[in-house]
Amino acid sequence: MTAMNTTELFDLLAIAEADREDCLALLADPAHDIVVAEVAASLTRSFGTFNEITVTEPTQDPLVWLKAYFRLTPAVLEWHRERGIPEQVTRDTLADVGRHLAISRRVTGEFSLQTWRWLTHHFTVRIFALGRLQFALQRTDLEAAGAITPGDWVLAVHIPEQGPLLPSLVDESLAAARSFFPRFFGDRPVTVVTCDSWMLDPFLLDRVSATSNVGAFVRRFTPLGHSTDGHTDALYFVFRTRDLDRLSELPRDTSLQRAVLDRLELGETWQVAWGYFRL
Ligand SMILES: CC(C)(COP(=O)(O)OP(=O)(O)OC[C@H]1O[C@@H](n2cnc3c(N)ncnc32)[C@H](O)[C@@H]1OP(=O)(O)O)[C@@H](O)C(=O)NCCC(=O)NCCS
Repeated sequence: MTAMNTTELFDLLAIAEADREDCLALLADPAHDIVVAEVAASLTRSFGTFNEITVTEPTQDPLVWLKAYFRLTPAVLEWHRERGIPEQVTRDTLADVGRHLAISRRVTGEFSLQTWRWLTHHFTVRIFALGRLQFALQRTDLEAAGAITPGDWVLAVHIPEQGPLLPSLVDESLAAARSFFPRFFGDRPVTVVTCDSWMLDPFLLDRVSATSNVGAFVRRFTPLGHSTDGHTDALYFVFRTRDLDRLSELPRDTSLQRAVLDRLELGETWQVAWGYFRL
């Protein structure tokens, strides 16, 4: 590591103590360095293009991706600094690395990065955490009369696992987005927030309480009438497993858990549904 030492790097990426030794071993192991360089090159080609150049996948080995992310962290930092992006935004955005390593350890019991593909957003500098929510700046191919034309820039919103989704926190994040994006990316004007998620499947709204945070979040969106099979998405986000053979062992303590399980036990498929609202 040239531009920063490993402690600075791991602090910036919010890597938990439990994962640091494995991260150090990964950095010290030259075994996959050729493919790490290929992954880093793929990310670098896409870097700053807001996915107009998509990331190719020379490998699907999660730890090769993680090592490439380590290698590219100084470049992400520099790109943010050059644009004057507040340090807190940089830190909150990159903290997703530690969060996802911790989730992977919780799910698999070992050092891993199940969600390596998700983190391509961060290491091509197209996602920003503003408080409770993350926003990916991207061109859309969606269409909504009077609101979205294909090719428009939009903010695709994402919800990290980070405590309750309080409406006041969502309001604060949206207020932050309203000033952040025109200030730093005024050449890509955005007026609309989009979301594609299992949470927007209409099945959910009838089964969580009217006062729930998740219900309040979902009701902000106008459905786009478009959805795709989410397979095990709802199961993964609520229970952190994709194993459909384990349904009977999973807890049914909350309305959210019951909603996810009830539907799967009916033999139905959770949909990833699309919606939008004006920023
Ligand atoms: C799903 C999520 C947004 C819920 O928000 P919240 O503010 O914590 O919870 P709500 O007030 O909306 O709770 C509604 C119900 O769901 C339950 N619930 C919330 N999160 C839960 C979780 N992770 N596991 C099980 N039940 C949960 C609540 O206990 C409540 O149940 P009740 O009606 O029986 O009392 C939040 O847990 C979260 O951020 N999850 C991870 C991120 C995610 O799924 N991202 C989506 C990617 S597409």
